[in-house]
Amino acid sequence: MWWSTLAGKLERAKALDPVTKAATGVVTAVLPQGRVKDALHGRWLGHPLHPLLVAVPIGMWSGALLLDLTGGRGSERAARRLVGAGVLVVAPTAAAGLADWSELGEFESPKRVGLVHALANVATTVLFGTSWLARRRGDDTRGRRLALAGAATMAVGGYLGGHLSYSQGVGMNRNADEQKQPRGWTDAAADADVQEGALLRIEVEGQEIVLTRRGGSVYAMGAVCSHYGAPLDEGEVHDGCLICPWHGSAFRLTDGSVARGPATSPQLSYRVRQQGARLQVQVRP
Ligand code: FES
Repeated sequence: MWWSTLAGKLERAKALDPVTKAATGVVTAVLPQGRVKDALHGRWLGHPLHPLLVAVPIGMWSGALLLDLTGGRGSERAARRLVGAGVLVVAPTAAAGLADWSELGEFESPKRVGLVHALANVATTVLFGTSWLARRRGDDTRGRRLALAGAATMAVGGYLGGHLSYSQGVGMNRNADEQKQPRGWTDAAADADVQEGALLRIEVEGQEIVLTRRGGSVYAMGAVCSHYGAPLDEGEVHDGCLICPWHGSAFRLTDGSVARGPATSPQLSYRVRQQGARLQVQVRP
């Protein structure tokens, strides 16, 4: 299966690292952490924005290809419009992808695959862009050929994008399977073990939970960061949020919601109550 062989080789291609480092620096300088970057991550959506946007140019260019192959005479104008509209949507789609990619920190292997994914998409955009220009000049035959070449690079870029998500876990909610855990009140820890300002990691019925006490109240949330799986008990509490030690996502202590990305999925959050000298937790609905 040459597809998976290609992806595996890219994962191990250390020669790409100088380029990924330089490109990360450029993207981070242009798109620093903040509201714009969070919007591109998709924090407002509750999951990454990039996969949703990707469907738009792919759909338009696929529609144009279908018209090229089966539309016959009279479909040239519609095909040209679809090709051009797809090119116009590339900018926000690429910005969202670059925002996610630049927050992978020290994880080199998805960064290498992501770099080639982006380059394949640049090639696709150039091919469909020149296809549109050729069609506009009346050379539909050349326009169709360029679009076919664009379809080939689009397939490579699409495969690598799928590999990033489904094989390498970029953009996945690392806590999705925790939704299965019991909902009742469950014994968690001794009240005396949860110190003001400290982070305590415990296991409750197979689930990793981090506890902290702030201003006398005890808060609890899942201990594995939803973004890329960092141990949140190694983070710090700041301004009412638990800050991830790897990429700086901020989760509100009160309900686990995301106050700052790159995470887009909230942390599983728990109610806490005291029973004698013990604390019990219950997953928040
Ligand atoms: S692992 Fe990336 S923000 Fe937590």
